[in-house]
Amino acid sequence: MPRYSITTFGCQMNVHDSERMHDVLRRAGYTEAGGPEEADVLVLNTCSVREKAEQKLRSEVGRLARWKRERADRVLVVAGCVAQQEGERLLKQMRAIDVVVGPDNIPELPGLLGDLSLGGLPIARTVFDLDAPRFLVASPSPSPASRVAPTAFVTVMKGCDERCSFCIVPYTRGPERYRPSDDIVAEIAALVAAGTREVTLLGQTVNSYSDPLGALPRAPGASADDPDESAFAALLRRIAADVPGLARLRYTSPHPRHLTPSLVLAHAELAVLPRHVHMPVQSGSDRVLRRMIRRYTRAEYVARTRALVEAVPGLTLSTDIIVGFPGETEDDFAATLSLVREVGFKGLFGFKYSRRPHTPALKLPDDVSEDVKGERLARLFEESEALLAAHLSGLVGTTQEVLVEGRDKERGHGGVGGALWSGRTGRHEIAHIEGAGELDLLGEVVEVSIARANKHSLQAELTEAARAAVRPRQRGGVEPGRPARRSLPVVAAEGG
Ligand code: 5AD
Repeated sequence: MPRYSITTFGCQMNVHDSERMHDVLRRAGYTEAGGPEEADVLVLNTCSVREKAEQKLRSEVGRLARWKRERADRVLVVAGCVAQQEGERLLKQMRAIDVVVGPDNIPELPGLLGDLSLGGLPIARTVFDLDAPRFLVASPSPSPASRVAPTAFVTVMKGCDERCSFCIVPYTRGPERYRPSDDIVAEIAALVAAGTREVTLLGQTVNSYSDPLGALPRAPGASADDPDESAFAALLRRIAADVPGLARLRYTSPHPRHLTPSLVLAHAELAVLPRHVHMPVQSGSDRVLRRMIRRYTRAEYVARTRALVEAVPGLTLSTDIIVGFPGETEDDFAATLSLVREVGFKGLFGFKYSRRPHTPALKLPDDVSEDVKGERLARLFEESEALLAAHLSGLVGTTQEVLVEGRDKERGHGGVGGALWSGRTGRHEIAHIEGAGELDLLGEVVEVSIARANKHSLQAELTEAARAAVRPRQRGGVEPGRPARRSLPVVAAEGG
């Protein structure tokens, strides 16, 4: 049986696509290799959203030239956004590559590999499934000895109809296509029945969702003249109602344009939605936002996120910011810093602007120097780190509910009493749980008290009540390592 290995770069959508490739290949009779060295087929699932991500592919393929030469029948596959973007060109530029497959063509991968093994030429398949969009679903548990992961991703839409001038995604992922809400609910129900506790809904602009079959009622709070704007909130309500066993329902990434009153209301009413939202803002300067074609002003972003925080006291926000967009002045950047302070983001991903192929911003000169970009990014991180540090230290002494996602990789990191568990609070802060190494907490929502704050995470201990609730049922421990899949009875959920 041929063995395969997949290396993933980039976003959650790519991680999700890689899982679908695992499924597709396993179903076609391939088995997973212990690592790239042992593989007959190596898949690089690429990202092109920022320059560095794309460079990574090039150096990776360079590195793999020897791996290819070692055996004539080895196959190198390039998937993901660079595959979609470059298509056949990749085959010409890098002779080591045998198959190029776009995100919408994953189901065709075994067929392409089959053709190749029969002597076919290297091939690129990068066609969007515009007429009949396919949304691949995780296959059910392969082995009774392993366990279902406590968290899972579920795609609700793909593609992007925004035209942010810096962004390559509309080019690499195509126009927006939505999945019927019946299918989404069915997938989530099946995951929860198998033991999944938290689902993250995925889409490039996830909150522009609309049901292609029109199966959702208009959500409360939706304005009558703007029916589509209500569909994402309606989807959240339907999932909450139809899958009551779900502990937490997240989504990523939303666009501020679709942070509507009905979505705010859903956050206020649905306990299953955690008190944290990642809402990319990109810049705090109206001048830059206009040039980015973000289609909202700073004041609109502030008003919409403020409505959310007022509706859900204690809700935290995180964001994405690009520094050094063409024409960004010191004043523009100062506006971004002041926005970061004004909103009080508790998490921030910052990026230096890089020119991307096929994007409208290519017309603008990349006129902020690398040094200035670097310096602005450092100032941005200084600001956001200070906000996060103040937030995390303010949580010391409080009680939080943590969904335990697995054994802590950072062994010895303040670890008392054996291995640590780690997970996320209801606001998505990372919490390391000390002194519970002997317990099996995987997939449980447990009450902890926060003992200390680290730079980016919290140190926690189980409360006495949580310890008493967990111990009788959960003695014995589990194998450390990556959570696999099995249907397990769902245990102790103290809410989301
Ligand atoms: N340059 C720098 N950062 C970018 N991003 C997207 N395109 C670019 C680009 N051309 C960032 C945005 C987005 C995140 C996923 O990547 O902040 O939200």
